[in-house]
Amino acid sequence: MNKTGVAHTRRTFLGSLAAFFGLEAINNFSLIAATASLRSYAAEKGILFGTASSVVALQDLAYASLVIGQSAVTVPENALKWAALRPSPDSFNFKDGDTLCNFAQAHAMAYRGHALVWHGAMPRWFSSVANKENAEQILIKHISTVVAHYADKMHSWDVVNEAVEIADGRPDGLRNTSWLQLLGPAYIETAFRQAHGIDPKAVLVYNENFLEADDEQSERKRQAVLALLTGLKRNQVPVHALGIQSHLYGEDNTTSPRFGRFLDCIADLGLSIFITELDVRDKHLPAAVGVRDQMIADQYFNYLAFILQRRAVKVVITWGLTDRYTWITDYHPRPDAAPVRPLLYDANLQPKQAYDAVARAFKEAAVR
Ligand code: G3I
Repeated sequence: MNKTGVAHTRRTFLGSLAAFFGLEAINNFSLIAATASLRSYAAEKGILFGTASSVVALQDLAYASLVIGQSAVTVPENALKWAALRPSPDSFNFKDGDTLCNFAQAHAMAYRGHALVWHGAMPRWFSSVANKENAEQILIKHISTVVAHYADKMHSWDVVNEAVEIADGRPDGLRNTSWLQLLGPAYIETAFRQAHGIDPKAVLVYNENFLEADDEQSERKRQAVLALLTGLKRNQVPVHALGIQSHLYGEDNTTSPRFGRFLDCIADLGLSIFITELDVRDKHLPAAVGVRDQMIADQYFNYLAFILQRRAVKVVITWGLTDRYTWITDYHPRPDAAPVRPLLYDANLQPKQAYDAVARAFKEAAVR
């Protein structure tokens, strides 16, 4: 197809995108130079690649076209958390979750949910309404209603997120959340069984943070997560995958033998492994952009090359695609206040070395 044809196709495509979001078509749209697709590189090896999304960021059509071009799966960054879904004890707000579900379906992407049970992003009413007598009913009502709403549309769910926290001092390593205080450790099994009963086709994921680094705290957390999952599998609880969030630091050693042994033990349980929230924080890296970008790219490649040696790794999702939209700006700013550069595209939506590093890791990975 000649250049005019390509430009026309992209304008039509972007026009349809604008129509999809009910926005007026934008003329003279500066088209993003299409780079090859991480979606296709990953798919050639049996890996599903995608990114987190939000309705707000997808109003930026240049960004939306990037997400569409590169992603085979998307997960709402916030739209399916309790804070967004539950304005009151008796109501559900699926507006943004549905918009993102429709976006995924319109562009042949899988859709995954995050998160049915978490201690974070809880609505204000919860602490004053929930008690030991009604907590299980509140949990079951939430899971039943939300999972049923998306039944047959959901690739996978983060059923329980971040249930382990060594610093809380329990022998089992469980985090001392409201759910644990109200229901005991059984809340985890209850959540998985309820979700599976409503949507037996959805892949059910236990999602966790800070599992990747080569230090004692991370190793103790890995062992606690392994023990938790081993117990769930022994009790025939329907958990199908471990989600490793992978919010890395550029300077972390994320390829240690003990992390490798952990991955192999998880696979030996018959679980798949999903990389669910991949990004690389640069707050401790040098200011020089060229040096920093290369260190970040090296971390992406080294981590993915190490992880993807395990054929149990089936999904790789980044927590955003561009430095223009990243939680790290607010949550992990650099001491020198320089703009952070954690993702694959810069704030002008141009691919960085990190993009090439991820593409290379997929190209060099074995087929699942
Ligand atoms: O939507 C409201 C908006 O109406 C309000 O005006 C604004 C100002 O208060 O807040 C908006 O909500 C914010 C929400 O992001 C949407 O932007 C919340 O305050 C803010 O706390 C929330 O932060 C999210 C955070 O989880 C907490 O839920 C981040 O975007 C999101 O990237 C981050 O993601 C987490 C994963 O869910 C779990 N793993 C760790 C990861 C990073 O912390």
